[in-house]
Amino acid sequence: MKKTAVIVAAGSGIRMGSELPKQFHEMNGKPVLWHSIKAFTDAYDDIEVVVVLPATFLDLGAGLSLEFPAHVVRTTSGGASRFESVRNGLELVDDDSLVLVHDAARCLVTPALVQRCVEAATSLGNAIPAIESNDSLRVIIGDRNEQISREWVRLIQTPQVFKADILKRAFQQDYEPSFTDEATVAENLGVTIHLVPGERENLKITTPADLAVAELLLKKRNG
Ligand code: CTP
Ligand code: MG
Repeated sequence: MKKTAVIVAAGSGIRMGSELPKQFHEMNGKPVLWHSIKAFTDAYDDIEVVVVLPATFLDLGAGLSLEFPAHVVRTTSGGASRFESVRNGLELVDDDSLVLVHDAARCLVTPALVQRCVEAATSLGNAIPAIESNDSLRVIIGDRNEQISREWVRLIQTPQVFKADILKRAFQQDYEPSFTDEATVAENLGVTIHLVPGERENLKITTPADLAVAELLLKKRNG
């Protein structure tokens, strides 16, 4: 089946606290976004990639995409929310494709994880990566709090893979605050979500500490 990755890179990185959005920060000589794109082009020779960029950084993003063949990587601009950015990216995806929506900020994603998600989604219709929590957990109930078992909880990652026609239909819904990823949007249409094992190193760069950790992990990987 045809495969199209939509890599959302249109955020401004408020929690990172730097002028330059985190997806353009360099890690081992290449921008965070470049590492994300590379994992997908390494996973499949025939994959297409749509990169969703901030309107104010279209040139920077387009320049970076030129390092990949033009028939592989296309760019478009995002919106004020992640939901809008994904919706814009989906406009460039054919209905008969599998779509792999990925946060550019998860630049340590591996080709093996991409393939695991695609294989599961090919047979089940969708697949999203999840890992267990290493920390103990509590839920806040009004002014109290209560311990909950780690076994009840999974931490959700990307790439989230769906048949494109279903995800495009789901993204025609009006935005709701519960729509934090593709799974929540599709689930609201009644779609059953399938979890596959994620990877602990597939962290989302959010703060400067995450960037430092990601850089060390990448150095370790590259020997
Ligand atoms: N994203 C996007 N469009 C937006 C907001 C986010 O494409 N309007 C993308 C980000 O670029 C990132 C991914 O969605 O790759 C996950 O979002 P997050 O980690 O929250 O990044 P930011 O929104 O940029 O960061 P912050 O929330 O700290 O501002
Ligand atoms: Mg955000």
